[in-house]
Amino acid sequence: MEKWLYIEIGLFLFTGIAGTGHHYYWIGAPRYWLWVGGIFSALEPLPILLMVLDTMHHVKKRQTKIVNPLTWTYAVGCAIYHMIGAGVWGFLHTLPQINYYTHGSQVTVSHGHLAFFGAYALLNLTTFYYAMPKLKGIEVYDDTRGKYGFWTMCIAMMLMGLFFGVAGVLQSYVERVMGMGYMTAQSYMRLWMGVVFFCGFAFLAGLLTTVADLFTLRPAKT
Ligand code: HEM
Ligand code: HEM
Repeated sequence: MEKWLYIEIGLFLFTGIAGTGHHYYWIGAPRYWLWVGGIFSALEPLPILLMVLDTMHHVKKRQTKIVNPLTWTYAVGCAIYHMIGAGVWGFLHTLPQINYYTHGSQVTVSHGHLAFFGAYALLNLTTFYYAMPKLKGIEVYDDTRGKYGFWTMCIAMMLMGLFFGVAGVLQSYVERVMGMGYMTAQSYMRLWMGVVFFCGFAFLAGLLTTVADLFTLRPAKT
């Protein structure tokens, strides 16, 4: 177990530190950053994938009964969303040959949202759902409302990420392949940014449900 953790942390460090070179491609830094950033950041999804496999292995081989399933749904959801948002979405635009076209566009924003929500927002929420019942002295909590909150936020954020992505691909094409102006590209993106706006409302609804649920957690009916 300890050896496995060292391998995982080592991979995160070796790929992650040099991998941040993907932020130096176009800022006037020496050309070798294209190689360093490109190669190491393309390897970054590997430890994330191992973490998902590790999570699934633990879920399958568990021996103790799961008491509060929603807390564990959050933990597994965090591993999977991290893989999609950071691993898959990051990989899609991390090679310099692709990033040349997508840099600083809504493709970046799409990845930024899915990665941040998956890796950090869900990690925090997992901790809150683990700690809150303990702080309130509740052994088994009623997770009916919490489940609605989880799925509404996850689905709304996934749709937001997808539509930011559609706007981003259009933006990259119109601006950087066809060579048209920034504002011309905006007019092609307007519809998709509008859809993002409505996904934002759905996300807000999920978020309010979750916050309300966390603060008014009650024991499950037996
Ligand atoms: C917890 C994990 C991660 C988070 C929270 C995250 C978040 C972000 C955010 C917010 C940005 C925008 C930064 C800016 O506009 O200056 C960004 C950029 C970027 N990320 Fe990630 N990221 C993560 C992991 C990854 C991974 C694993 C990869 C590659 C496999 C990756 C590839 C990229 C690339 C290439 C950019 C630059 C996009 C551009 O040139 O505009 N990211 N990331
Ligand atoms: C109601 C839901 C939300 C909406 C409508 C929304 C919308 C936006 C918009 C329009 C931007 C500016 C994009 C640009 O620079 O062109 C942005 C940036 C950003 N948002 Fe959100 N957002 C929401 C929720 C979130 C959440 C929950 C997170 C993280 C957990 C998040 C993380 C970020 C990050 C990291 C950036 C900077 C991205 C970059 O630099 O590329 N947002 N958001």
